[in-house]
Amino acid sequence: MDRETVIVLDFGGQYNQLIARRVRECNVYCEILPYTTDIQKIKELAPKGIIFTGGPNSVYDESSPHYSAEIFELGIPILGICYGCQLMAHALGGVVNSAVDNSSSEYGRTETEYFGDNILFENIHSRGISWMSHRDYISRVPNGFEINAKTEKCPVAAMSNHQKKLYGVQFHPEVNHTEYGSDMLRAFLYEVCGCKGEWKMDSFIDDAVEKIRQKVGNKGVVLGLSGGVDSSVAAAIISRAVGKQLTCVFVDQGLMRKDEGDFVENTFTKLFDMNFVRINCQDEFLSKLKGVSEPEAKRKIIGEEFYKVFWNKIRENYGSGFFAQGTIYPDRIESGKGDAAKIKTHHNQVGIPKDICFEDVIEPLKDLFKDEVRAVGEKLGLPHELVWRQPFPGPGLGVRVIGEITAERVKILQEADAVLREEMQSCGYDKKMSQFFAVLPGVKTVGVMGDARTYSELVAIRAVTTDDFMTADWAKIPYDILERVSNRIINEVEHVNRVVYDITSKPPGTVEWE
Ligand code: XMP
Repeated sequence: MDRETVIVLDFGGQYNQLIARRVRECNVYCEILPYTTDIQKIKELAPKGIIFTGGPNSVYDESSPHYSAEIFELGIPILGICYGCQLMAHALGGVVNSAVDNSSSEYGRTETEYFGDNILFENIHSRGISWMSHRDYISRVPNGFEINAKTEKCPVAAMSNHQKKLYGVQFHPEVNHTEYGSDMLRAFLYEVCGCKGEWKMDSFIDDAVEKIRQKVGNKGVVLGLSGGVDSSVAAAIISRAVGKQLTCVFVDQGLMRKDEGDFVENTFTKLFDMNFVRINCQDEFLSKLKGVSEPEAKRKIIGEEFYKVFWNKIRENYGSGFFAQGTIYPDRIESGKGDAAKIKTHHNQVGIPKDICFEDVIEPLKDLFKDEVRAVGEKLGLPHELVWRQPFPGPGLGVRVIGEITAERVKILQEADAVLREEMQSCGYDKKMSQFFAVLPGVKTVGVMGDARTYSELVAIRAVTTDDFMTADWAKIPYDILERVSNRIINEVEHVNRVVYDITSKPPGTVEWE
């Protein structure tokens, strides 16, 4: 590989993506590969360095992930983290003590002492807090290694064999709570691996544009634009490469937020050079959804209808040349997390129907993490609002209008949601939330307005903070903001006479109501 690359070899640790992010923040490109990757492939990739991640296992478990000891003989610098450090010690003849009880375990912030001659710790203080998460511990380092850190319970919190460029840390330098953690990773990448730090977003854009031009030649490219961050950034970069040879097809099923369809259209027709095709098809979607209120049935119909409308359009006009998608790196990493129970169907990737034959698929963002995608989007001149857009479910407001979806109910929700967004923006709270939106639960309640009885819709407000959307906390929005939102929704949105705030975390709730 000509690009300077570091490999993160994944042994099942919960922080594998975080490690990769930290490496990229040091301007070094890195790939996460599963521990099942053949050593031959690693040799071919010729990385500048390898990082072993943590993992939930003990090196003595028969089923625990291991790796051929040949990897230590390749002359490639290796940093083992947590389980990765234990694995290195075990494979090279050291001793790992398997915890029989919890007396040796350490979880969380731990006072750590650094000493000896370890290039990773050269520019840090001799004491600091590190983030630990382990039960087993190394009690004897392999021959040729020295011990470079300890804690009260852990005799080997770090070890090194400078000559062979092998390093191990029992703690997690990738976690922010580890003081000097990023200095240690930087030292590994620059001082040990000899990286130059060539991974920069400007050069990424130039390279990607050049590659797209070469691949596409004078042919056409078609891209399904949802108005989400990924497809928008993909559209912007392809537009820069081939201009009008790109056609973006935007299916507006009438289930977007208020004015969002127009905003997407304006952005791409005014700021970028491309063909923009908007398909307005709210009526078709609503007629298919008539009388349907079961959440999975609604999701299925919306997904299928989208697929049909989108591909019919492509079939009619654009079924040759290249097909582009906004796939990003996390979409394609082998997660190896096993079969999670299916809670709800997400429709993200659209498979290509068999009768449509493109020359190839173009995925310009396939190596980028979400925040890198955003950085590219900003550099390409996409509006801030679009680049920092919150996640929005594929089925749109279809899963926020609970029960049957009608045009009137979608409109009520759009208006209420617009008020919420306005209020959150005006006090800067929008930036503190991971996601917030209004829901129309389909409940009517009795109220009194202007001395008269009302019997109207209830609106619920949902706002969450989360790192990864796998779990989420309900957001503690100050009462005065909630009060303004509630007053304005009831006064300004017709057919609504009551507002409630959802105080359910995930789990047990999910972020969306359906
Ligand atoms: P849940 O409701 O599963 O949502 O806790 C987690 C995150 O996923 C978003 N979400 C979707 N995203 N297609 C998507 O691309 C979908 O069908 C979909 N359903 C939920 C949700 O908004 C939240 O950010």
